[in-house]
Amino acid sequence: MALERTFTMLKPGVLSRRIAGEVISRLERKGFDIVGAKLMRVPRRLAEAHYAEHAGKPFFGELVDYITSGPVLAMVLEGDGAIAMLRSLCGSTKAEDAAPGTIRGDYAMHTGLNIIHASDSAASAEREIGLFFRPDEIVGWKDGNYPWI
Ligand code: RTP
Ligand code: MG
Repeated sequence: MALERTFTMLKPGVLSRRIAGEVISRLERKGFDIVGAKLMRVPRRLAEAHYAEHAGKPFFGELVDYITSGPVLAMVLEGDGAIAMLRSLCGSTKAEDAAPGTIRGDYAMHTGLNIIHASDSAASAEREIGLFFRPDEIVGWKDGNYPWI
């Protein structure tokens, strides 16, 4: 399995519900390396760029409203096969299809409020990491600077 980086975002509501720690804990327990993290309010233009593939769809306005409505925690995760691994940990997009045990399955009742974003492909991961992080904001774990790991 190839070492990959993927982009994830704990959506607004995670911070206000005080469950950020629980969700991060699940990502850590699975085995991802957190190599980037940023607490931020997403500017409207960034939200529209991030979800550009959905522009024009009926839920686009609500999606952008939601993503810009409060603080998010944007992260870059690294690991073997990280892109598909994270998608499977998050669970299905539709709330009613997200299996118990997945993050969406355990924490969200509504599709539009499904608490976590995960890149859906290598191309999306690269694009989304580039939208949210500068290269120097990605922290290498295993480059010799952290001998205790
Ligand atoms: P995400 O991009 O947030 O990780 O979610 P996803 O890949 O699983 O789903 P996607 O198709 O990219 O949709 C993006 C977000 O839009 C909302 N959505 N609402 N009402 C609807 O039919 C509908 N479909 C999608 C969800 O919040 C979804 O996460
Ligand atoms: Mg998506």
